[in-house]
Amino acid sequence: MAKNSLRPEILDAATPAAAALAVERAAALINSGELVAMPTETVYGLAADATDDRAVARIYEAKGRPSFNPLIVHVADLKMARRYVDFSPLAEKIAAEFWPGPLTLVLPRKGDAGLSLLASAGLETLAVRAPASPLAQALIRISGKPLAAPSANRSGSISPTRADHVRDSLGDRVGLILDGGPSAVGVESTIVKVDGDRAILLRPGGVAREAIERVTGRRLETPERLGVEAPGMLESHYAPKARLKLNVAKPGADEAYIAFGKHDGAPARVVYNLSDRGDLVEAAANLFAHLHAADRMASALGLYAIAVAPVPNEGLGEAINDRLKRAAAPRGNDGKTGRQDSA
Ligand code: TXA
Ligand code: MG
Repeated sequence: MAKNSLRPEILDAATPAAAALAVERAAALINSGELVAMPTETVYGLAADATDDRAVARIYEAKGRPSFNPLIVHVADLKMARRYVDFSPLAEKIAAEFWPGPLTLVLPRKGDAGLSLLASAGLETLAVRAPASPLAQALIRISGKPLAAPSANRSGSISPTRADHVRDSLGDRVGLILDGGPSAVGVESTIVKVDGDRAILLRPGGVAREAIERVTGRRLETPERLGVEAPGMLESHYAPKARLKLNVAKPGADEAYIAFGKHDGAPARVVYNLSDRGDLVEAAANLFAHLHAADRMASALGLYAIAVAPVPNEGLGEAINDRLKRAAAPRGNDGKTGRQDSA
């Protein structure tokens, strides 16, 4: 089907004039909530407006992931990144040295900056990167948007380093591929979490550990060690403070309810609906925002628990159920991440 359809459109950006046209078109798609595959110096990314929950939900749908991994938000530079995260002096030093480039920083997320909570999978931290690729830079600047982008491959496949890899993996799940030629670095970015004056290597990648250590003047910590030293510090899953009960068709009066599909939620005192139309993309877009809101209400009203309606386990429902299960799991046994996976 993908072969005969007009999608994906692959726009060549080999000359400055072609690049300008291609980026303008891509920026228009981003601003209408669509997905665009963009080249970066590491690998191609599947980009969407990081301030638009539905656009971000479409990324997960196109990748066919059975879970919501937090995404990297791509920005033009340090100044733009400051809108979304807080930089400690150490984080600032690392960014100043390696941006733009193949380095991602995981930093405390600013709560009120208008980013989709789905992009960071509900976490208090956010992964940010200023890519060096001129086309990625141009797309960010012309769309005026921070771009959430995982690698532009279907879940379980390897990261694409050429436009045709993206087409072969995603087919018509992406409307437009900006063709910037082969990725110069070819492996994903190095991910470093900076927590005050500690720097932790979460994923090795395009910038060597030694290069970062030369700038920080000390060894990067590793999550394997920290897992023992500081349990909980590397939580990779959102967990509400209130107790979470899953697959609840009829909530109690002392619960906050997160409904799905047509449901008035009675007798629950507060009700949020993931999608009253029963649409799973809409439900994914609302998931973390509703969990956060329900958690705040539960604590303000002294409610006993948050009850969540059954969500069909198909399409994005699989990822929604995966995250709900993790959020409902007892603390401490599911929060540690080792090395980051490469999906
Ligand atoms: O080079 C790259 O990093 C490419 C290009 C497109 O920028 N992107 C990429 O994204 O590799 P992705 O989604 O395939 O991998 C991002 C990794 C995931 O393993 C995710 O768990 C981790 O970053 N990550 C994102 N936000 C995080 C956070 N707040 N805390 C810890 N890990 C995070
Ligand atoms: Mg990936």
